[in-house]
Amino acid sequence: MVRAKQRYKVLALFGSAGTPPADQDFSKELKTDDFAAEAHVIGALKQLGHEVRTLGIWDEVAPILDEIKTNPPDVVFNLTEHFNEVSAYDRNVAGLLEMLGVPYTGSSPTGLTLCKNKGMAKELLAFHKILVPNFAIYSPGTTIKRPSRLKFPLFIKPAEDEASYGISLDSFVENDDAFEERIRFIHERMNQPALAEEFIEGREIYVSLLGNDSLRVFPFREVIFTQVPDDQPKFSTFKAKWDDAYRKRWGIQNVFAEPFPNGTDQRIAKICKAVYRALRIRGYGRIDLRVTPAGEIVVLEANPNPNLDRDDEFAQSANKAGVSFPRLVQRIVKLALMAAH
Ligand SMILES: Nc1ncnc2c1ncn2[C@@H]1O[C@H](COP(=O)(O)OP(=O)(O)O)[C@@H](O)[C@H]1O
Ligand SMILES: [Mg+2]
Repeated sequence: MVRAKQRYKVLALFGSAGTPPADQDFSKELKTDDFAAEAHVIGALKQLGHEVRTLGIWDEVAPILDEIKTNPPDVVFNLTEHFNEVSAYDRNVAGLLEMLGVPYTGSSPTGLTLCKNKGMAKELLAFHKILVPNFAIYSPGTTIKRPSRLKFPLFIKPAEDEASYGISLDSFVENDDAFEERIRFIHERMNQPALAEEFIEGREIYVSLLGNDSLRVFPFREVIFTQVPDDQPKFSTFKAKWDDAYRKRWGIQNVFAEPFPNGTDQRIAKICKAVYRALRIRGYGRIDLRVTPAGEIVVLEANPNPNLDRDDEFAQSANKAGVSFPRLVQRIVKLALMAAH
């Protein structure tokens, strides 16, 4: 069993699915699938010997201030993914912790802002000569016209979301009518700008990295679509990620990636480190990319503070490299304390 040398006061901070219980007793919620990552991290922190308090937040800032004043933690384990149902507000929660001067895990408001804004992230990556799909952004209320430089097939996604929200088979478009229709759908149903990208054919790879300055790259994960016919486009829709029956039907599996030929694995690792640094990710992060049949490495997006469910990509990759879950949690805590000095 892994025990930490030094015992810290850790505040586990996470988003509650509605007004949290007044006594902040989340024992029931933490047993459900929705809170798996939180439960796993809290369990590991306790196992390590740390003194853990939990705070669920919904739409009020005051409980964060009160808790930190009443029970000052050595470090906050920041598992917040949204505030008041806005996923981009994770940056503001980190910003508040920053203002309070308390060390916290994961990325700062800068990294969270850059990665969450997928258009801005791509502009920055292009500056660093990292390959990204050609793209255009359409804000609600503007004219929707495809520039001739964007070639079909195209892929339409919400510009500021995650976890494949808003991604279905209709995201793949092959003509201007479908293109316009899907952009309108993102505007009207998801209330945010739409991102139109050239569709990148190829193997889809998830790369987990750990560190602040010196970075460790864990073994790559890959999503494979074993039962999707060869002539169909393959990509991770919401259902492909989260619906077990759908995954079974189409033979969609997340596995460790078979090595690529010709030094591609080394190039992937190098590019992912460059992405991590360019987008100011701190602590831990996951880069999603595709490798085309010609061997080009095209970055789709970067995820700061990726899900820490023990069964999710990050913990799986770390484990494969010999970093057990409690050790991983301890490293993330240490990286937070190092970043704060
Ligand atoms: N330009 C693209 N070409 C091909 N597939 C894409 C492209 N952009 C996104 N996808 C598919 O959609 C999925 C979700 O897109 P991504 O940008 O990673 O958003 P999310 O934050 O929702 O995970 C990807 O895992 C990939 O399968
Ligand atoms: Mg993704």
